[in-house]
Amino acid sequence: MTFSNVRREIAGISISELANQFGTPLYVYDAATILARVEELRQFDAIRFAQKACSNISILKLLRKAGVVVDAVSAGEIHRALKAGFTTTGEPAPVQYCADIFDRQALQMVVDLNIPVNCGSPDMIDQLGEVAPGRNITLRINPGFGHGHSQKTNTGGEQSKHGIWHEDLADCMQRAERHGLKITGLHMHIGSGTDFEHLAQVCKAMENTALKVGSSIQTISAGGGLPTPYRSSDNRIDIDCYFKLWDEVRQRLQETFQHPVSLEIEPGRYLSAEAGFLISEIRAIKTMGSNTFYLLDAGFNNLARPILYGAYHPMSIMPRDGNENRPLQEVIVGGPLCESGDIFTQEEGGFVCRRQLPAAQIGDYLIIECAGAYGSVMGSNYNSKPLAGEVLIRDGKASLIRRTQTLDEILAQEVLI
Ligand code: LLP
Repeated sequence: MTFSNVRREIAGISISELANQFGTPLYVYDAATILARVEELRQFDAIRFAQKACSNISILKLLRKAGVVVDAVSAGEIHRALKAGFTTTGEPAPVQYCADIFDRQALQMVVDLNIPVNCGSPDMIDQLGEVAPGRNITLRINPGFGHGHSQKTNTGGEQSKHGIWHEDLADCMQRAERHGLKITGLHMHIGSGTDFEHLAQVCKAMENTALKVGSSIQTISAGGGLPTPYRSSDNRIDIDCYFKLWDEVRQRLQETFQHPVSLEIEPGRYLSAEAGFLISEIRAIKTMGSNTFYLLDAGFNNLARPILYGAYHPMSIMPRDGNENRPLQEVIVGGPLCESGDIFTQEEGGFVCRRQLPAAQIGDYLIIECAGAYGSVMGSNYNSKPLAGEVLIRDGKASLIRRTQTLDEILAQEVLI
């Protein structure tokens, strides 16, 4: 993976054209990149997109047309999936609810619409069983270990709130039986942005757990967590090798159970991260002692990953005057928010760091790359900033898929008394 410091276009469309037409800050996605990542995972029986990574309904529709199914973690995400044209029945389930709780609205929705549930807590089994006995369910198991790109994205082990603790399996089987719920699948997701070595450990844990549940198991899900390259030194994960490990588990289970077992994968970041760019405009350049700051019109209200996890995103500049022969300099890149942590170049723990970028002028565009996963979806209205617009580029055509929020829309739910 290489990232260049100067970028003129995204998927063949000039950055200034995009910025002029749609304004900044602006999220831009390249459909071809999303679809290319889908193709890489075709060996799995089902590719279930963890829509929390990038849930715009046009992106969901693009994925639906490519044969991808979705995961939903809330009533809102089920609602999005249906708006994007997913149906409630089919094999593999077009929409699956996977969470650690049911809020009352979500429980009502999965019952009314017959949405399959992947239970992440023992209480969910009882709550569903009481109102919808006799259903098939799957269990999300916490195998007792986890790993993520940050401690905040590690979803396994006893420090994590996610999944059913592996030692509680027998209890959960009894709960299911009491309600006539049949456990037809198992799921393990140990963390987000992890690595091959940690992901590989999950296979063994899955096999052991499936053997304990027995032949009612028809699907196993490897969860998400596939890493994507954010730095030029990051390597791509070997998908063939990863599939092979899981396929071996699946085949052994099929032999034991004497019936087919379907193998699902549940990526979020892998499908959308590299496809997304956040275009911002440099609005101020100033020095503080020995530091030079580029201040953008985008902040952590648009992309929270750096302030939350110290996440690294590649950055490039589009010089507005077309002169690309700008010397490189070390700078700190920040946003407009009235908060010191509103810095895109920081490490975990909030330590500000410098980045080599071309010398810039006010009005140049700064593009934050690999921002298509957990970018726009984690946006907020902090400082009463509007949620950014989103554009999808497909076959050389840029289409608006979410317009920038208006100032009145920010206030729309408020009541003046
Ligand atoms: N499945 C489950 C049950 C999950 O909880 C998640 C992510 C995924 C799949 C997809 O994981 P992925 O393939 O994207 O790694 N905001 C953080 C990531 C939080 C992940 C939450 N769950 C970030 O920006 O890195």
